Amino acid sequence: MTALCHELPAWQTLQTHHESQIRQLDLRQAFAQEPQRLETLSMQAPHVFADLSKNLWTADTERLLQQLAHESQLAAKRDAMLAGAAINSTEQRSVMHWLLRTPLDAGQLAASPVLQAWQPDMKTALQEVHDTLNQMLALADAVRNDRQITDIVNIGIGGSHLGPEVVVNALEDWIDTGKNFHFVSNVDGHELGHVLHRIKPERTLFLVASKSFTTAETMLNARSARQWFLDHGGSEDPSEACSIDRHFVALTTNKAAAAQFGIQRTLGFWDWVGGRFSLWSAIGLPIAIAIGPMQFRAMLDGAHAMDAHFFTAPLVQNLPVRLGLLDVWYRDFCQFSSRCIAPYSHGLRRLAAYLQQLEMESNGKSVTREGLPLSVPTAPIIWGEPGTNGQHAFFQMLHQGQDIIPVEFIALRDGGKYLGEHHQSLVVNAIAQAQALMVGRDGEGAEKFCPGNRPSSFLLLQRLDPASLGALIALYEHRIFVSGAIWNINSFDQWGVELGKKLAKQLHQRQDSQDWEGVDASTQGLMQRLAHSNF
Ligand code: F6P
Repeated sequence: MTALCHELPAWQTLQTHHESQIRQLDLRQAFAQEPQRLETLSMQAPHVFADLSKNLWTADTERLLQQLAHESQLAAKRDAMLAGAAINSTEQRSVMHWLLRTPLDAGQLAASPVLQAWQPDMKTALQEVHDTLNQMLALADAVRNDRQITDIVNIGIGGSHLGPEVVVNALEDWIDTGKNFHFVSNVDGHELGHVLHRIKPERTLFLVASKSFTTAETMLNARSARQWFLDHGGSEDPSEACSIDRHFVALTTNKAAAAQFGIQRTLGFWDWVGGRFSLWSAIGLPIAIAIGPMQFRAMLDGAHAMDAHFFTAPLVQNLPVRLGLLDVWYRDFCQFSSRCIAPYSHGLRRLAAYLQQLEMESNGKSVTREGLPLSVPTAPIIWGEPGTNGQHAFFQMLHQGQDIIPVEFIALRDGGKYLGEHHQSLVVNAIAQAQALMVGRDGEGAEKFCPGNRPSSFLLLQRLDPASLGALIALYEHRIFVSGAIWNINSFDQWGVELGKKLAKQLHQRQDSQDWEGVDASTQGLMQRLAHSNF
């Protein structure tokens, strides 16, 4: 049985190191005393330059964290993922979203010794990935060329929503179809209602995106969309031009349920693709329709470049590893309970929401893979807003509040296609904020005092293109794997979410039967209040 992370020798050493070296660390002095600091604590990974030098750590901290990675058998755990082992142990599933962006000849991964030992079924899986990808891109192309379709409505939630939405938003400069994209996720009828109000059945393609094809919110939205379609001239008869067959596509691993729902056109994927890692699969169809097959492939290539870096670069020069270790350092040794995501890019306005699911659903766990209680905290709270908006909202607290919250700046070297002269101002603001957090302000009275020494990381992309975005998202996926591996948790299940789903279903049933036996007074009171007309 693997030792609990806090029992590992390196954990103890890191605690001592934090007490003796880092608690008193002053970033301003550290820069003055270490001419190599930027060089040592920054690196170029595929498509992403990372400046980690303004963090509350030193080269020694990193060395000790690398020792922790070694004692946690990080490399072996990573290689097990690459070998297709069932590392999602509670569901007995492999974790192979990275395979979705692996070229048929294994591309930059071909040299990996793990791949040399690949079982034949992995090669079969890779072939199936490419067959489905080709099928999806052909469908995307057909939809792009179909002038009659002006609106794409994606109905899905969680991983079947956030990934496609963040990417379609981010790559809006690359959308060249003249179609409108709508994402409906919430079961609140206002979201779907407002969309339905703006579209016409004969001009709309509905994508019902659900890995399981059982998620209550998605099923209710899909049923309502279908009913609206039929009520507004659509037909169940496949021979009709405005038919469900022509205007609905399901993206799912559960083709049988989609067929039962009445959708025949289905793109599939596999149970080894976790929902929150699924934008690279058939779930990415809205992205492929938006940016086209060539750019979709470019996004996969960017992600693959980051995969190859993660799976093959030495751990000390491996960006997902360095960031994942930094995350553990901040959460468990510095006791920072949240991380702020500050993308200085309008395109990345939904990145924080996307990362909330990716990181908090993956690593918000309290037991190890063996089911033992962990006595150290795991995933931090992920939150944020794009800059410069955040500067005029919560940055005050980041500068002068009493909590220390590491900030992750994400900026682009080149601006996009509109008003390029704004871009310099945008990026300079990001750099100035990172500087201000560190240098602070003194000597102008207590109210204006900013303590400084507040940590941040700075990720810089050349531009927001499909390849860079693919690499950035893959970087986050792997980084989360790394911290999960150090904590020795299963980053790929989500039983907490399942509990909420189960109880909501039970409450619906109890409402019908009015059987409140065994239900707590508060829940019962709220449910009964709902039923009262004189609320
Ligand atoms: O939020 C919980 C979850 O299970 C996610 O993991 C998943 O992305 C989402 O629900 C939607 O699930 P599905 O794609 O099966 O509808």
